Amino acid sequence: MKIIIKDSAADASAAVADILLRQIIQKPESVLGLPTGGTPLGVYARVREAYQHGRGSFAAVTTFNLDEYIGLAADDPASYAHYMSENLFAHVNIDASRTHIPSGMAVDPDIEAARYESLITAYGGIDLMLLGLGRNAHIGFNEPGSAHGSRTRRVSLTPSTIEANAGYFAPGARQPSHAITMGIGTILECRKIVVLATGPEKAEAVAASVNGPSSDDVPGSALMRHHDTTIVLDKAAARDLERSKIRELEA
Ligand code: F6R
Repeated sequence: MKIIIKDSAADASAAVADILLRQIIQKPESVLGLPTGGTPLGVYARVREAYQHGRGSFAAVTTFNLDEYIGLAADDPASYAHYMSENLFAHVNIDASRTHIPSGMAVDPDIEAARYESLITAYGGIDLMLLGLGRNAHIGFNEPGSAHGSRTRRVSLTPSTIEANAGYFAPGARQPSHAITMGIGTILECRKIVVLATGPEKAEAVAASVNGPSSDDVPGSALMRHHDTTIVLDKAAARDLERSKIRELEA
């Protein structure tokens, strides 16, 4: 695991956007794994801006999103499909048929999860996976207790995750309690992983994920098992890391 610590969330987002752009410039047919949520908004804004200035093309890129809520249609404003369209896909030259997100409306979410997992394999796996980190150290919607070998599947969200994400739903809108998520084992098979975490509310999750020990109780700690993970932080999110650990991991 390598660490990059920036002064601000904006600088950390810029660093991650740069990694994404370099990936698609070096390998135009890259397969990307993408997160949603508040953290990557700055990354997508920077990528859109760079694209408008002629840096990077998505013409040959394929994407797989990490997760989707069960029960939300792609056009629901709170769905991750809608988020991706608004924040990235509608603004770049990506081929919509190569953007993949689990269907929240599948009749059988278990079959949908298996289909998604096979599709990732059919594309030859994911070159670069971007991740956010939950306050309870979840990655994707792999909540504490998820096995580090878990595959894409239907999961229940914890009350703390439901509460943390409540702000993304309109007042009175029904908030799902289940999702389909890539598994931790699926994530660990990606060739390169970049995690972005910013803000003091992520400091504990960052410290538990980076300091170890690696345990099913801390999904983010599974990333220690991966050969090419970079965690990009702002100072607030790095607050609880030991100095010696930072020196050991600084990229
Ligand atoms: C989103 C996802 C989640 C988020 C995490 C952090 O696709 O898989 O793991 O990355 O919940 O969310 P924010 O960035 O909103 O704090």
